[in-house]
Amino acid sequence: MTTAPLSHGPVGIGVIGAGMISDTYLDNLTRFPDVRVVHVGDLDPERARQRAEQHGVPRFGTPDDVLAEPEVELVVNLTIPAAHAAVSSAALTAGKHVWSEKPIGIERESAKALIEQADAAGLLLGVAPDTVLGPAFQTARRVIESGAIGDLMAAQTVLQYAGPDLFHPSPEFLFAPGGGPVFDVGPYILTELVLLFGPVVRVSAVAPPARPQRTILVGDRAGETFPVGVPTHVSALLEFASGAVSQTLLSFETPVSRQGIFEVHGTTASLQLGDHNLFTDNVLISQAVTASSKLRDQPVWDEIAPQGVDVGRGVGALDMARAIRAGGQPLASGRLAYHVLDIMASIDDAIREHRTVELTSATDPVPVLPEDFDPYASTLG
Ligand SMILES: NC(=O)c1ccc[n+]([C@@H]2O[C@H](COP(=O)([O-])OP(=O)(O)OC[C@H]3O[C@@H](n4cnc5c(N)ncnc54)[C@H](O)[C@@H]3O)[C@@H](O)[C@H]2O)c1
Repeated sequence: MTTAPLSHGPVGIGVIGAGMISDTYLDNLTRFPDVRVVHVGDLDPERARQRAEQHGVPRFGTPDDVLAEPEVELVVNLTIPAAHAAVSSAALTAGKHVWSEKPIGIERESAKALIEQADAAGLLLGVAPDTVLGPAFQTARRVIESGAIGDLMAAQTVLQYAGPDLFHPSPEFLFAPGGGPVFDVGPYILTELVLLFGPVVRVSAVAPPARPQRTILVGDRAGETFPVGVPTHVSALLEFASGAVSQTLLSFETPVSRQGIFEVHGTTASLQLGDHNLFTDNVLISQAVTASSKLRDQPVWDEIAPQGVDVGRGVGALDMARAIRAGGQPLASGRLAYHVLDIMASIDDAIREHRTVELTSATDPVPVLPEDFDPYASTLG
């Protein structure tokens, strides 16, 4: 089935996957004038009904119901990572544009096939994270592009905590292939790194053996144990085509939590980005080194307030909706997500095979959003 292209008016959205994150998405998508959420579907139609009713969405049912709905032009895929590629592919086959939660898929082959399928059908494919479209990251990009920290040399990032079993009532998928800190939270950090430094050409990584099983800590099934099938504490080194390098720690194992260390070092100053999971956060810039700087000086940071309208999850789908009407491409594109997946898969390969992995994928530069970008504006007539 194909969907008749419209030239104006809000873009019709169907959400597939009515789990935990769908609440936040539906909160936001139902407030953007340029989109209209018309259907929610899930393998569990009762869950879809509850979410639809909670957010005033008129129709609900199975994933196939969403795909058969002529008013749905854009499918927002909020299923679990192992289902992403199949659900996105079915939506493309049904003639719908697709916005997918991260990652684009859990292995390279099906993700690459998805990009080819979208291109062949003339449909758009966009992928989370859309935190990179938030005022915090966009402000950091503008500071860097202004030359305020000089030429980019390196980055160090730390995202560590005890693991998502702390808060997720069904955390098994977060410890199965397609999960773990690399595939679950890695997309935030790695997408930011690629947007700042450009494509990665080489990856190495190490990880200790993971604890073989975890226990669900919250919700109706608290106390149940489940197996762990992925590395849970990973140190990765990336080398970019530009010659810059980064070191990244991603962990679901540490009793102490550090959610927000992302330092970018230029030739004249350093920048500290905000929390990867927040759309709006302060950015910090260091003072430049001078002749009077001392070895043991504590860093002095100046705050830079984020510029732009506060947004949340769903802004990437909104950007895509506008691109559909304008005949353009989404900023958070499938190609960018494929390169990020290739980095994650290469980190896995490097750990398993104890070697440095060369990458062949790349991605194009993504422009910074205009400062007056407003998700709450009605721009489509
Ligand atoms: N939970 C979070 O805090 C969070 C934050 C950001 C991004 N995400 C991403 O959002 C996605 C969903 O996460 P979640 O926490 O909402 O998961 P969840 O397990 O709470 O919900 C997933 C939903 O998808 C449905 N589903 C699974 N396979 C399906 C299929 N083949 N067809 C239709 N429905 C299917 C399940 O029935 C379930 O209702 C993941 O990719 C995750 O990485 C989650």
